[in-house]
Amino acid sequence: MSDSDANTAPEELPQGDLIKILRDQHAEMQDLFATLLSTAEGRQETFDRLRRLIVSHEVAEEMILRPVSAQLVDMKIVAMLDHEELQATEALKKLEAVDVTSKGFLELAVDLQRTMGEHADKEESLEFPRLLEGCNQQVRLRLGASLARAEADAPTHAHPSAVGSTNAQNRGGTLRSPGRPRPRRLGQTPAQVDAIVPKSRCHRCGADDLGRQ
Ligand SMILES: [Fe+2]
Ligand SMILES: [Fe+2]
Repeated sequence: MSDSDANTAPEELPQGDLIKILRDQHAEMQDLFATLLSTAEGRQETFDRLRRLIVSHEVAEEMILRPVSAQLVDMKIVAMLDHEELQATEALKKLEAVDVTSKGFLELAVDLQRTMGEHADKEESLEFPRLLEGCNQQVRLRLGASLARAEADAPTHAHPSAVGSTNAQNRGGTLRSPGRPRPRRLGQTPAQVDAIVPKSRCHRCGADDLGRQ
């Protein structure tokens, strides 16, 4: 593969490539939306998976993708995408507060599906091609690994106050830059810290998967 992969078909990008990961997650989101809206069976579980995916995806984009895009993409486009992510996170926050069995939930979910689909289309047409042009495969694989780490550290539910800013996503000691050590108390080993941070709790606010403190 050449240094510039601007014309490479998405399905030919290698596993671990930043752009492949993000495109695959866009497709997975739309699959989960389709399941969410087509059947009441397992709706809460489907929504929990979708919510986690949306939050971790958008947080990781702001931490890992956007700083690179700021060098390669028109800043108006970068600002627009950041703004759309804020709107989507606010919409997700509203959806989290509604019972999944209610009619209101389905109406809000349809709106969010459309919003997320349009947002993903813009990223894929206006942002990702510039990354394929401007970053060679080695760089994109490194960014892909950083993205995976950022997603593992992302909150489990919507935090609109941090969206739209890479710095804000980093504040609070919960969303850590790739490679930055997990904050820990004096004398604790990383393994001890891992043991006392429940995986099911939001790194940012400590709430559980349903946003309960
Ligand atoms: Fe996004
Ligand atoms: Fe995205």
